[in-house]
Amino acid sequence: MVKVITYGTFDLIHPGHIRILQRAKQYGDFLIVGLSTDAFNHAKGKSAYHSYTDRKIVVEAIRYVDLVIPEVTWDQKIDDIQSNQIDIFIMGDDWKGSFDYLNKYCKVIYLPRTEGISSSKIKNDLNGHL
Ligand code: CTP
Repeated sequence: MVKVITYGTFDLIHPGHIRILQRAKQYGDFLIVGLSTDAFNHAKGKSAYHSYTDRKIVVEAIRYVDLVIPEVTWDQKIDDIQSNQIDIFIMGDDWKGSFDYLNKYCKVIYLPRTEGISSSKIKNDLNGHL
């Protein structure tokens, strides 16, 4: 069984999210999503519209996702990889190079982002229009 892990906030789910999860799942049999908690987002200077609890409900319902775990710190990835026996770590290429240090523990792959969409763009576009 090939196990894959990826991380993110996954707020206001859009086709860019679905496409990365779909492609990530194609690399293996079991896909884990490390979902940024609200406190971790805050520490990153990011804020999500949906709470962690609500984002988890949504991400767990995506057919490509087998398990959602909380992402609470930058430093948990090695532990997650080892404790979940992860074979492949996948992120969008906006993170290219940032996680190469994980190559010691599993394969690291950066997938191209979907052009023209992001949670931030949705928020900006809707701002003042609802
Ligand atoms: N992602 C993607 N294509 C997009 C947007 C996101 O492939 N158009 C990927 C990111 O590269 C990341 C994962 O989806 O691996 C989760 O990204 P996240 O930061 O939660 O989504 P964004 O829409 O980029 O959110 P924000 O605008 O708040 O940064």
